[in-house]
Amino acid sequence: MTVATKQLEDRRTFVTPSRDRQHELGQFLTPHPVADFMASLFEARWQEVDLLDAGAGSGALSAALVRRLCTSHHRPKKISITACELDGALIDSLHATLHDCQQECELSGIRFSTTVLKEDFIAAAVPMVRGDLFASHQPRFNAAIVNPPYRKIRSDSSTRLLLRSAGIEASNLYTGFVALITKLLTDRGELVAITPRSFCNGPYFKPFRTDFLETMSLRRLHVFESRSAAFRRDDVLQENIIVHAVKAMPKPSQVIISSSNGGAGSSVTEREVAYRNVVSPADAEQFIHLVEGDAQDSARTVMDRLSASLPDLELSVSTGRVVDFRAREYLRRQPDRDTAPLIYPCHFDGGFVHWPKEKARKPNAIVSNEETRELLVPAGVYVLVKRFTAKEERKRIVACIYDSAKIHAPLVGFENHLNYFHVNGRGLTMPLAKGLAGFLNSTVVDVYFRQFNGHTQVNATDLRSLNYPTRVELEKLGRRIADPGMLQEELDALVDEELF
Ligand SMILES: C[S@@+](CC[C@H](N)C(=O)[O-])C[C@H]1O[C@@H](n2cnc3c(N)ncnc32)[C@H](O)[C@@H]1O
Repeated sequence: MTVATKQLEDRRTFVTPSRDRQHELGQFLTPHPVADFMASLFEARWQEVDLLDAGAGSGALSAALVRRLCTSHHRPKKISITACELDGALIDSLHATLHDCQQECELSGIRFSTTVLKEDFIAAAVPMVRGDLFASHQPRFNAAIVNPPYRKIRSDSSTRLLLRSAGIEASNLYTGFVALITKLLTDRGELVAITPRSFCNGPYFKPFRTDFLETMSLRRLHVFESRSAAFRRDDVLQENIIVHAVKAMPKPSQVIISSSNGGAGSSVTEREVAYRNVVSPADAEQFIHLVEGDAQDSARTVMDRLSASLPDLELSVSTGRVVDFRAREYLRRQPDRDTAPLIYPCHFDGGFVHWPKEKARKPNAIVSNEETRELLVPAGVYVLVKRFTAKEERKRIVACIYDSAKIHAPLVGFENHLNYFHVNGRGLTMPLAKGLAGFLNSTVVDVYFRQFNGHTQVNATDLRSLNYPTRVELEKLGRRIADPGMLQEELDALVDEELF
């Protein structure tokens, strides 16, 4: 492992518009040190640079690349920048930045030109991508640098339809931007983008991820370990990632994975990882794994050795069927004769569900009748996993057992903030449940899981993507576990002894 000590600062500068406007337009401008770091990632061997800066803001990213190129050994002869920004309030400062770039280029003997598009990048780029006859121009770029806006795109919105007309399925503006940019790049064109990490594994991002990985070859992934407010883009706490990728090149054998904590003056740690360990050719989901250190590397090696999938174990994992706000009229604070237990994460107590909870803020029960029957599952032993963990929680995967031998009820409801493992809608045997919960609660699974999941949400798809021990191995482990919520060191030692 090599340790570089480039200095990075984590200071987001904000423009003056109201917070609402800022939020609406995803205006989280890139701080200069981060912009410089992004610019440093380009291979930059061009004679002529045609740079696309989509969602340019005040032009910090273009300026960083120009700064770098003007001082580089391989100085290009010409730089052309196309900068697209929707917000009129930023256009003056964008022009001013580009003017500074021009002066810098003139001093360095580089020809310089700019095109500023004051419009919606998606509306401007889709006709170019589709090659429409009357598209204003049909440019192609050999470089793109971007910090795209981050906002969900509603499935019935015109933006979604527009993107679809260019063959792009995007549920968020940021993936829409990046997908369009990759289509506007020439072969061997380079992209450096800073985006949320959510596309690395999210099920909604699968169409984007698979297209992106097919078109682009990853060169470097940089992750900010810091979850500081400065790097938050919305209420879902998630890390940001910088991607450097090249279009239509054969995949390299290695990818550089680097990280920094994003704090002022923090150092950057780098390691080279085999491409297939970052994106496995065998993985239908095409998750992107960020193997950042030795612990992650050995967790991956260990997990790769496990041979069973959930279908091999005849197990399924689903999201809890009771969405509480939709079933409000059936919820009851305390159990009654006509109710079934309703289980929330607040009922987790060590390795077992403890129910009912006396002073719970959540209801303990749901009416059991014809209307709610579909929401309930039969009594049995189920392994539950929280779908959301608080940022201060030590582990991302928190598993617990629901045991109807302790909670006497013929039916049970699992709330939507939980995933539950089942056998065709029914319970598991206790040894299998204990082995599975113990395995999921182990440190090795948690370390592995964080390589492809950078936020606090655990999706059923994520759990389906894991390799598991065989049934025999899980049952053997389960027989040695009294409580899957046991002390972490003891659990890890047991899991290690039985499985690895
Ligand atoms: C995350 S900021 C990044 C700005 C700048 N590139 C930087 O790194 O400092 C995203 C920018 O995209 C702009 N933007 C948002 N939606 C846009 C759209 N549909 N078309 C063009 N620009 C857009 C915002 O106004 C904002 O300036």
